[in-house]
Amino acid sequence: MKDVASEHGKPFEPHHVIEFCYVNIIGMWLYGKIFQQRDEQYLKWAATFARRLELGSCLLVDWFPSLACVTSAEVRELKGHVQTMTDWHTKVVEEHRQTLNESSPRDFLDHLFIQQQTGKLMVSDADICCVLDDLQSNGFDTVTATTVWGIQLLVQNPDVQKKLQAEIDEVVGSGRAPTTKDRRNMPYLEATLWEIQRVGTIVPMPGIRGALSDTTLGSFDVPKDTILLINHAKMAMNPINFPQPQKFDPTRYLDENGVVVAPDKKMMLFGNGFRKCPGMQLARDMMFTVMANLLQRFTFQLPEGVTAFPVGKTVGLIQHPLPYKITAIPRL
Ligand code: HEM
Repeated sequence: MKDVASEHGKPFEPHHVIEFCYVNIIGMWLYGKIFQQRDEQYLKWAATFARRLELGSCLLVDWFPSLACVTSAEVRELKGHVQTMTDWHTKVVEEHRQTLNESSPRDFLDHLFIQQQTGKLMVSDADICCVLDDLQSNGFDTVTATTVWGIQLLVQNPDVQKKLQAEIDEVVGSGRAPTTKDRRNMPYLEATLWEIQRVGTIVPMPGIRGALSDTTLGSFDVPKDTILLINHAKMAMNPINFPQPQKFDPTRYLDENGVVVAPDKKMMLFGNGFRKCPGMQLARDMMFTVMANLLQRFTFQLPEGVTAFPVGKTVGLIQHPLPYKITAIPRL
C-alpha cells in the first residue's frame, strides 16, 4: 500500500508493485523471507523467474520430445535458470535449518523439516527444494496476473468499483485493514474475484494430460494414451453457463439472497482431479486481501487524456493484460 501511495496519484504501471507484494507474502509464508524493493538480490531473483516462465511456456521440445537430443540454446538457458533457483533454495534450506526450533515452527519450511525429522514425510532436502520452487514459481505470477486484470476491469467498470468500495466501507470501515476474516461478510468482492478470474482467464490452456486407460468422456470414446487438454478459455466464455459472456457481471455468482455460488464445474480455472491447483485457497485469500486493501485506500482511474487500455494479452502459459498505466487516487 505504501508503494501505491508513494505514486501520489500520478500515472504508474501497477504490475511491479503488485508482483512485489505477492512475492513477499509467499516468501513470508514459505520461509519468512521479505525482500526489499530495488534490492539487487530481489531484482536478480525476479528476472530469473520471469525469464524461466517465458522460456518454459513455449519450447518446441515440449511439443516434439524427439528434439530433446538436439539441445537448443533456449533449453540450455532454461537449465541455467533452473540451476540458479535450485542453488538459491538449497542455501535457504541450509540456513533455515540452523535456526529451527521444533517446538515453535515459524513457517511452511519449518513444518516440512519437522515432518521430515519425525519420518512422517519421506522427503530429502532436494525434494524440499523442489517443493519450495514449485510453490514459489506457481504462487506469485498467477495472482499478480489476476490482480492486474482486476484493476483494469474495475477501471473499465467504475460502477462495480464503487459497489466494492461501499461494501468495504460498510463491513470494515476505515479504522482497520481488511483481512481474510472479512471474506464471508463481503460476498460482492468474493463474486467479483470469480468474475475477474473468468474474464481474465490467466491460464487458458493448462498442462497436457493423457488417458491412462480406455475410457469415455460424455459421448466420446477416449482410447488409452489419448492426449487431453482442457480449454479453460472456451469454458469461461460458454454462453450456456455465462449468458452474455463478454459482459463483466459479478452478480452471476450471487443467488437471490446475495449468497455466493462458486462456479464449480462451469469453469475449472484451478484445474480438476488429482493435479488440481493446491494453492487455490491461498490464492483466493491473497487476492481478496490485496484487492480489499487497495480499494479501501484508493480509487483507480485511467490517467488524464488516456481513454482506453491496450487491447490484448501477453503470450505464455500465464497470460497478463498488456502493460498499462493507471492512477490511484487516495480515498482515506
Ligand atoms: C489465480 C491463481 C491461480 C490459478 C488460476 C492457478 C491455476 C492452476 C492450474 C490451472 C493448475 C494446473 C492444474 C491441472 O493441471 O489440472 C495449477 C497447478 C498448480 N498450482 Fe496453481 N493457480 C493459482 C495460484 C497458485 C498458488 C498461489 C500456488 C502456490 C502457492 C499454486 C501452486 C500450484 C502448484 C504447485 C501446481 C502444480 C500441481 C501439480 O502439478 O500437481 N497455484 N494451478
